[in-house]
Amino acid sequence: MKKNYSKKTKSQTIKLVVEKGYSVKDAANEMNVSEATVYRWVSNHKRRLNNKVEFNKREIDQLHAENLLLKKALFLSRKKEDIFEFIYENKDILSIQRQCEIFGVSSSGYYKYINSNLSLEEIHHKKITRLVKEIYLKRGPEITNLQITEIINQHKRITSQATVARIMQKHKEKWHQSHSQFHQDKHVVLNFHNKDTLFDQQSKVYFHGEFAKQEINDFFNKYSITNMTKHTDSTVENVQQYSIDDNLLFKGDNLYALHHLQKEYKNKIKLIYIDVPYNTRNEKLSYKDSLSKSDYLLSLKNRLELARNLMRNNGSIFIQCDDNEQAYIKILCDEIFGLKNFVHQIVWKRSNSQQNNTLIATKKEYILVYAKNKKHLTFNNEPITEKQIKSYKFEDDKGRYRINKLQNQKMGHYDYFVMAPNNEKIKYNWLISKKAFKQLQEEDMIHWSKQNIPYRKVYLSDDLTIVPNDLWIEDDIYGTTRQASLELSKNFSEYQFTYPKPEKLLEKIIKMASNKKDIVLDFYGGSGTALVSAYKLNRQFIGVEWLEDNFSLILERLQETLRQYAKKSNNSFISIELHKKTRS
Ligand SMILES: C[S@@+](CC[C@H](N)C(=O)[O-])C[C@H]1O[C@@H](n2cnc3c(N)ncnc32)[C@H](O)[C@@H]1O
Repeated sequence: MKKNYSKKTKSQTIKLVVEKGYSVKDAANEMNVSEATVYRWVSNHKRRLNNKVEFNKREIDQLHAENLLLKKALFLSRKKEDIFEFIYENKDILSIQRQCEIFGVSSSGYYKYINSNLSLEEIHHKKITRLVKEIYLKRGPEITNLQITEIINQHKRITSQATVARIMQKHKEKWHQSHSQFHQDKHVVLNFHNKDTLFDQQSKVYFHGEFAKQEINDFFNKYSITNMTKHTDSTVENVQQYSIDDNLLFKGDNLYALHHLQKEYKNKIKLIYIDVPYNTRNEKLSYKDSLSKSDYLLSLKNRLELARNLMRNNGSIFIQCDDNEQAYIKILCDEIFGLKNFVHQIVWKRSNSQQNNTLIATKKEYILVYAKNKKHLTFNNEPITEKQIKSYKFEDDKGRYRINKLQNQKMGHYDYFVMAPNNEKIKYNWLISKKAFKQLQEEDMIHWSKQNIPYRKVYLSDDLTIVPNDLWIEDDIYGTTRQASLELSKNFSEYQFTYPKPEKLLEKIIKMASNKKDIVLDFYGGSGTALVSAYKLNRQFIGVEWLEDNFSLILERLQETLRQYAKKSNNSFISIELHKKTRS
């Protein structure tokens, strides 16, 4: 009959054999248990022990393999094909199922890719091509095929120099062109974590054009248009469409709006003015103004690239900013528009008063000006001011004139004698040739000072306009932020928009860089100063603003302007709402 032994008897018996070295027979005698039972207990115990060791070992191996793989995958892109190839290459290290879990891809997707798409050689070749590209872009055009081969083979020989040479021959030119770092006219390169990343400001998601074309297309297709409304000075009505001549005001993210305009307005915009949030980290503004440097630049980059497509060949863009981001925006724009299309940087005095809560008080802002193609850009001259007229202080029988220097120690490249009115022979470093000097003398265009120095006469009648300059500090001409706030608070006090720009400033820019009927675009609308000013100056406008309150302010401000100018021919605008589609 089978006896029932206590747990204690069982464990003491096993201990005698396993730990104290008793034979099965002796232990059976000592504990008064049958030999067969002792034998069974001991062998079961040993089997369990072995299993446990085996299990622990397997778990540790698995962890090792996962660690190894994660290290290898440090620079793995998010592109699915790359991940599948990586899994394939490492399937001996860690199971395919586990790798799929780790890298967040479906195992059925993996099998589909591996079985249908490529042969093993092709997978290998793709991998080598990717490595060659990475090394070439990182190390620059000076690197040789031999060096690339050595870098790839440094741990294990996986390719030959001949293969690398073939890959380079096929792709080098394309890689070279697509990578701005290698362009000779670039002195500084902004290196985004991926050159063609699209940053969605709202969701803080990055999409990589090279890897996630589909996601980017989806992103742009994920908006819908609603509430298309036509506003005149006295009516508001829903409409189904707008025409290319309409004034437009979009509500929504300007990335969508710029994308939406790409087809119809390509090469149509004469002037873009933007007053981008300055990234001041000031919490008290009418909009969010705090992004990391790279997020800020990336979001601007994506928008400026789209905006550039819309510009006419003779168009220009004015970008207002302050010291927080000016240097970064300048470099970004050099890259997007090209160094050769940088026109100028204007300094605008924003305020007369100063706050004393920083080490140095801010009184100015910048306006960076770029051309789509500087060769084709012209600006309208400005009428000469009363103050400037006063500098025409000389007069002869042809009228009032001012004088310009003809000599310059450093810049004067001509070297000859001329005869002064007192018959003295004088010699300077002249700015004009002897022939040109003689011609001026014959035309009575030389003014001699009392010290016998010759100057060129510039008559007032020849010179009623002047080119704009880059120092905009007169309040009565360029306005100040305080003036702008007063302008707004007079009619729209309930909105309290912080730091609007004055209409005078915008009028100056619009008059200088566009003509009647040209299209002016401002895709950081704010309170709508640029749109109102454009309208008053008979330009067509397109504006974008994404915040509800600011959009309502622009609507009201524009409607009020329409009422003031009720007799204008183009007396309407169309507002359009762009909505991000929510998942269905
Ligand atoms: C500095 S304010 C512009 C002020 C304007 N120049 C004025 O005179 O009133 C910038 C505006 O851009 C808007 N904005 C910022 N990011 C935007 C985006 N992604 N899409 C549309 N509007 C945006 C902000 O809500 C803010 O109203």
